[in-house]
Amino acid sequence: MHDNIESHLKEKRVFKPAKNFAQKARIKNLAQYQRMYRESIKRPDKFWSREAKELSWQKPWRKVLEWKAPFAKWFAGGKLNLSENCLDRHLTTHRRNKAAILWEGEPGEKRTLTYQQLHREVCRFANVLKRNKIGKGDRVIIYLPTIPEAAIAMLACARIGAVHSVVFGGFSADSIRDRIHDSGAIALITADGSYRRGGIVPLKKNVDDALRVGTSVKRVIVFQRAHNQIHMEEGRDVWWHRELEYVDDDCPPTALDSEHPLYILYTSGSTGKPKGILHTTGGYLVGIYSTTKYVFDIRDEDIFWCTADIGWVTGHSYVVYGPLANGATTFMYEGAPNWPEPDRFWRIIEQNRVNILYTAPTAIRAFIRWGDQWVKKHDLSSLRLLGTVGEPINPEAWMWYHKNIGGGRCPVVDTWWQTETGAILITPLPGAIPTKPGSATLPFFGVDPAVVDPNGKEVGANVGGKLIIRRPWPSMLRTIYGDKQRYQKQYWSEYKGNYLTGDGARRDQDGYFWIVGRIDDVLNVAGHRLGTSEIESALVSHAKVAEAAVVGRPDELKGQGVVAFVTVKTGVDASNDLKAELREHVGTHIGAIAKPDEVRFAEALPKTRSGKIMRRLLKEIASGAKVTGDTTTLEDFSVLAKLSESDE
Ligand code: PRX
Repeated sequence: MHDNIESHLKEKRVFKPAKNFAQKARIKNLAQYQRMYRESIKRPDKFWSREAKELSWQKPWRKVLEWKAPFAKWFAGGKLNLSENCLDRHLTTHRRNKAAILWEGEPGEKRTLTYQQLHREVCRFANVLKRNKIGKGDRVIIYLPTIPEAAIAMLACARIGAVHSVVFGGFSADSIRDRIHDSGAIALITADGSYRRGGIVPLKKNVDDALRVGTSVKRVIVFQRAHNQIHMEEGRDVWWHRELEYVDDDCPPTALDSEHPLYILYTSGSTGKPKGILHTTGGYLVGIYSTTKYVFDIRDEDIFWCTADIGWVTGHSYVVYGPLANGATTFMYEGAPNWPEPDRFWRIIEQNRVNILYTAPTAIRAFIRWGDQWVKKHDLSSLRLLGTVGEPINPEAWMWYHKNIGGGRCPVVDTWWQTETGAILITPLPGAIPTKPGSATLPFFGVDPAVVDPNGKEVGANVGGKLIIRRPWPSMLRTIYGDKQRYQKQYWSEYKGNYLTGDGARRDQDGYFWIVGRIDDVLNVAGHRLGTSEIESALVSHAKVAEAAVVGRPDELKGQGVVAFVTVKTGVDASNDLKAELREHVGTHIGAIAKPDEVRFAEALPKTRSGKIMRRLLKEIASGAKVTGDTTTLEDFSVLAKLSESDE
């Protein structure tokens, strides 16, 4: 048996950047990308200095990178403020009266904040923080829906050097408590409630439950959003709007060390204990600034809509900090994509003339399932660029997105990155790099990824292996909060000095990267190691399938058997014939080795709150075991119950 992951997906379609797009883009052709990429690798100091100099520094850096593996200091000795770079920097330019944030609430209200207005709100709220004895280095939990106040709270923390930790508004009291405990937060910013599919999520009540046992939180600032009845704890809780009455709007940005902590964002670790990923100021800013600029080729006249919730890293980097650092107009939407009907996104794009849409494969697969008629009702001609992030996108979903949403004219950037990486690392540049459906294509500037075998040796073309990054990059995580050892062990010990992503990948004959899924999910069938995403992509390429998840179950003969959980498109009959047809379909597309031993139809698949399929739970169901693992990040518990029932 060999240890390399095998790769069988045969995807031959290539889409060259359209001429009229490329002509106007910052990076106009492959040769220009290659030239800049070579420079970024050979002379990283020069490359990153040039990028960083486009931003405002209160004190210049001494050294671009100090690297004592695995600990990095970027722009060492420099001083700056992130909120100044996102706001003040634009106030002396034509952007002063430009929309910084366009927002739409789920019930339909709309708000616009210009750069000048946003600056004023951030300064005032920063003064509220100071008034409440929150200062530099203090940790602050933000538990808010995707409303402008979430961005205001984040930027206000950044302005005074407080370290924010945003907790996704869908998480429960227990999750909040864990994060308070781990971060030692002294304050919490929340709202009375938020809207979700027409109902009200009782945010403040969840906070009250989290704080029932003694915690380090001394102050809770409450924004009035949903006007639901809440309890205000005397001496601990204050209203956001009342506090504003006591402050003025003068709040100069604090000069912070380039390595000053900016935020902690928790991601679920495999062991249950959440990991607090720590990002710092200077390098993170440079990373999100230049990726937003080059990957989305963002323009002053664009309306940029990243649909991620503010509680995820995508919301941090590409709803708030990246677009604002570039002086762009960022669109924010509070609610669900299918409220009140499955065309909400398309309605928003039509009404607001959105130009760039950045969303997740899980959303795209839901749109496919809901049917094309919802898309066809709307004029999407304002769109000029599409992006995806979060999971491997199955080539057929990519094609659907390209054709039905992009009208065949918009480039699709499939961006690979992680909470840990802070910014996009592998991605097409839309005017320069030809795309292949399902591939994140080539590394961004300064990023040196490789696919390696268990000994750390780079594998050849089209051979699968583990994806590593061979040198530090500006927006990298600096540590796991409070746990240097875990940081070292988890990311830097397996291949010393190299960053372990935890993903499996292969590189094709053109050097393009294809992510085949998380290493932990790799199947081992009769000595063949197969990534999950290729089999899933083969299933999704069948006309009747909307979504598929593939897992292994113990098999005496083969080591592991392949079990496929499949959801079909609306209106399709999930019959036994279709099961047989799907097995054959995988056989033809990949090979007999990957044919599922069992196909199970499911109404829905278990997903995390951020839309990733939870294969770990499916594995337990497939092997007939009771689900015992941690399910706290599961989005919809009824899905799990239904899957287990269908088993009996
Ligand atoms: O497995 C990869 C997958 O999502 C993981 C990172 O998840 P998270 O930290 O939640 O961040 C998501 C937003 C950046 C990766 O290890 N992933 C993310 N983007 C892609 C992807 N897999 C394939 N293709 C992508 N474009």
